Amino acid sequence: MSTASDTVAKAQSYYDSDDADNFYYQVWGGEDIHVGLYEHPEESIFDASRRTVKRMASALSGYPAGSHILDLGAGYGGSARYLAREGAYHVTCLNLSSVQNKRNRRMNWEQGLLDHIDVVDGNFEELPFTEQSFDVAWTQDALLHSANRQRVFEEVDRVLKPGGTFILTDPMMREGAPQDVLKPVFERIHLDSMGTVETYNGYAEQLGWKPAEIEERTSDLVAHYSSVLRELESRQDELLEHCSPDYMERMKKGLRHWIKAGENEALFWGIIQFHKPA
Ligand SMILES: C[S@@+](CC[C@H](N)C(=O)[O-])C[C@H]1O[C@@H](n2cnc3c(N)ncnc32)[C@H](O)[C@@H]1O
Repeated sequence: MSTASDTVAKAQSYYDSDDADNFYYQVWGGEDIHVGLYEHPEESIFDASRRTVKRMASALSGYPAGSHILDLGAGYGGSARYLAREGAYHVTCLNLSSVQNKRNRRMNWEQGLLDHIDVVDGNFEELPFTEQSFDVAWTQDALLHSANRQRVFEEVDRVLKPGGTFILTDPMMREGAPQDVLKPVFERIHLDSMGTVETYNGYAEQLGWKPAEIEERTSDLVAHYSSVLRELESRQDELLEHCSPDYMERMKKGLRHWIKAGENEALFWGIIQFHKPA
């Protein structure tokens, strides 16, 4: 069993590695690193991933320009740039990976968004922000990396204003899913478990929040990882100029386990919203 600090250190060294940085940057196209929403299976990873951001942002249409959004585990900051540009929101990106944060800051500068986006190095289990400082907390496909997800919910509750929204996507497991299908998935992310809808609703209940509003899109997780695997196989020679052969082999193996687990209904993915009472 890993300790919480081991898990944070592993996620940091993974996302800061040249292999991971080059792989995600090349395959996703530099803005996003999350599951896309697919209108057809052959569509590009970039377009499908952008659609997830647009769909989540549409859920925030009630928040006026200038509202303050916290993105936990913000990757390269593609969602923040979309939210700042399209919604005129102020976004704070919190991320463990200094390599990703560097790319994020550079793209914000290149795209003229420095006044609208802050990029903060940090761990989402210990948020470096004061009480009730955000209207919205947002996270995409990052919570799975935590060994203490309840702590992340508590931290989100602390920094959210009353009436605030916590909107998230996260690859989760289904309660009762067979361990033999899940085990190889856990091994790839160096964890002993993943979140479930039931555990997240349990944390919400303890915080006095209402149960989640859920749009289930598990089939998109399977479509997405299948698409990443095809991309990796078809661009293998070019990607090998940026990533080590060992990393590429492990990634292929890992993706096959994720696809199998998704097809066997061991996993769950979707857009989930919680509301902190006013
Ligand atoms: C799959 S990527 C998703 C990135 C981004 N949310 C997106 O959708 O493009 C997971 C992200 O979580 C970040 N992360 C993992 N553990 C974290 C932690 N304890 N605190 C802050 N960020 C973390 C990683 O550095 C990485 O940026």
